[in-house]
This record gives sequence, C-alpha cells and structure tokens, in this order.
Amino acid sequence: MKKKNIENLIIKEIEIKIKNFFRKKIFNLHEPLFFGNETKYLNECIKSSYVSSVGNYVNKFEKKISNYTKSKYSLSVINGTSALHLTLLAAKINKNDEVLVQSLTFVASVNPILYCGAIPHFVDVENDTLGIDPTKLEKYLEYISIKKNNKCINKITKRKISALVVMHTFGHPSKIIQLKKICRKFNIILIEDAAEAIGSFYKNKHVGTFGDFGVLSFNGNKTITSGCGGMILTNNYKFYKKIKHLSTQSRVKHKFEFIHDEIGYNYRLSNINAAVGCAQLEYINKILRSKRQIFKIYKALFSNQNFFTVFKEPIYSKSNYWLQTILLNDEYVEYKNVIISKLNDSGIKVRPVWKPIHLLKHFKKSPKMNLYNTNLLYKKIINLPSSYSLILN
Ligand SMILES: Cc1ncc(COP(=O)(O)O)c(C=O)c1O
Repeated sequence: MKKKNIENLIIKEIEIKIKNFFRKKIFNLHEPLFFGNETKYLNECIKSSYVSSVGNYVNKFEKKISNYTKSKYSLSVINGTSALHLTLLAAKINKNDEVLVQSLTFVASVNPILYCGAIPHFVDVENDTLGIDPTKLEKYLEYISIKKNNKCINKITKRKISALVVMHTFGHPSKIIQLKKICRKFNIILIEDAAEAIGSFYKNKHVGTFGDFGVLSFNGNKTITSGCGGMILTNNYKFYKKIKHLSTQSRVKHKFEFIHDEIGYNYRLSNINAAVGCAQLEYINKILRSKRQIFKIYKALFSNQNFFTVFKEPIYSKSNYWLQTILLNDEYVEYKNVIISKLNDSGIKVRPVWKPIHLLKHFKKSPKMNLYNTNLLYKKIINLPSSYSLILN
C-alpha cells in the first residue's frame, strides 16, 4: 500500500473512533475540571486575608497528602521542579557529582540536577513500565563503578554517583522495589519523581513513598491540580526539617530578628493554591475511576487494528493513567509526526513523548549508558487526549 494511504488509514482509525465515541469537537490533552469546594475554599482564603504562604489550607493540604499517600512527612512547595531541587539540596548533591536519571522524561526531572552544579548521567528505560530498567541499571553500575569509602565512584569519570532519580512515566509505576534495592547496594540516594503519579500505587503502596524522597506536581495539567504546586514526601524527619528550612529562605527561628544561616529559597506554596489542592483531593477517587474508564474505552475502541497498541499499567501496579498512551508498531513509526500533526489539525490534541534529554544540545556531553529503548520509544509513543472531562462533565 502507498505511504499516503497507510498514513490516512491510521489517522482515520483514531479520529473517527474518538469523535464517534465521545461526540466532541475539540479534545484537549489534559484539562482540569472544578466541581467541588474550590470556590468556597478560595473565598475563605480571601475573606481571611491569608492568601500567601501561611494559612490553614497549606497545613491541611500537607496533612491530607500525608494521609492519602501514607508518607510520614509532606511539604508543599510552588511546583514539582522546585520540589526536586530541594530534595537534591537536602541530599547534599555536590557540584560535579553524577546523578543517574532516565533520559525519557520531562526536562524538569533533569534541570534541578544542573541547578546544583551536578551532572546528569542518563540511563535507559524498559518497555513494560516506561521507567528505568533495573536489570540493565544494576549490570551497568557493576561495570562502571567501584565502592570507595562507602561511596559509589564512576571508574571512568572518577566522579561520585550520588543519586538516582526515578520517574513514574505518565503515572505508570516503575519497578521501584528493585530500584530501591540497587540504590541500597550501591549506596545511592533514591529520589522518586512522581510528578505525574498522584493516585498511582505499586504493590498497594503509593509511589513517591519508597525512596528517600518523593515529589508530586499539581500543575494544571496533572491528575489533580492546585493551579501550580508541588509536594515533597519523605519518611525521614531530618530530611523534612532540612527541606522546610531551605524552602523558607533558610530563616532561623527568632522572635523578631531576620537571620538566615545558608542560601535559602522562596519555594513555599500559597494558601490559595493549597485551597484548590484540598478541594481537588476530596474527589480524587472519582477522577481516578474516570481515568481508568478512559483507558478501557481506548482499549476497546482500538482492539481491532494492527497499527499500534494501547499501553496498559504494568504488573503489580495500579496506575492513575495520567496520560493515555499508544505505541506505534515498528513498521509504522515513520508516520508518527504526520499522525500527530494531522490529528491536532482535526481537533484531537495528541502529542509525542518528550525528546529524550540526552539528545538536547546542552546535554550532549553528559555520560550515558546505551539508550536503545529510550531511542525506540521516542519514535513509537503518542499520547491521546486524557482529560477526565471526556466522561465527567
Ligand atoms: C516528570 C515530571 N517531572 C517534573 C515536573 C515538574 O512539575 P512542575 O510543572 O509542577 O514544576 C513535571 C511536570 O510538569 C513532570 O512531568
């Protein structure tokens, strides 16, 4: 068959089935809906005049997230990126340390490593979770590292490998228990970038609570939102105290003096944002049920074609299905860009996965392992419209 015909067949397969089933004109990738107590809580903030980084909703939001995730401590901050930055600072990641991180991720997983003057070291993902491949990682570390004074040292670059940032891609849990074991073995700090994964569980435990730190994002495009916002999860009191201190300009407690004992950051979440987050969290289960329902609908709609597969949550996981994902079969990867472009023109806002970070110009010199799966998945992944407004409105 001619290239043009195949292209059209794939586009029509997606366009007609989605439009016929959901009966809409425009399908956004992921938009929020507000149908709880958002307005009520926002009005309370305004009336009380607590609109900034102090207020009842900030404390409530942190408590509610701790209850929901079963994390001992939760600290709210302005966004997921600042949350990741604070975790790296609290973990004492030094200039020129190496931090292992998957290349198939949003750049916000990697930028905070640069903020610390550290060096991202890219590792590969696996096809069944889209997260870091533990078997490949362990073999790689055995090959490239040695232990010196209980530190993991890269034999080739002579730099310390300090941390591993694991991302739960599109809300699908990585093999976090295996990855944690590897971090213990090599004495590496484990940071979970669970920015996309509120409401996702691995073996019934919320992701973000396995590592030394976990990070959530409540950006407007996430499963629940606080407008903007992030949360750091940790079970370690010392780490909690440290991130709290750093997030409040490192101000030392004093009755009236302004004393700051190290570089600090103005990263605290506002009461207004926390109020929206509290309201959204009250109906997260309803949202999660509809996200799962959307997955089932796509699975059924696309069961009779051979162009692509619909990605399903990995084994032992309960995923929040943040972004619904299809993987083009190998023989159709060449059509990815045209499919994305034409579906967007028709009102179906699909998107590709992020360009792998090791391919971005300013990361070209960073160390990396063989990134075979990353490179292939980049060619295959398309995210479909995933807003819960598709079925809840
Ligand atoms: C994987 C990942 N990490 C980090 C972030 C950063 O979160 P934020 O946008 O709240 O800064 C996001 C989302 O935006 C993300 O998808």
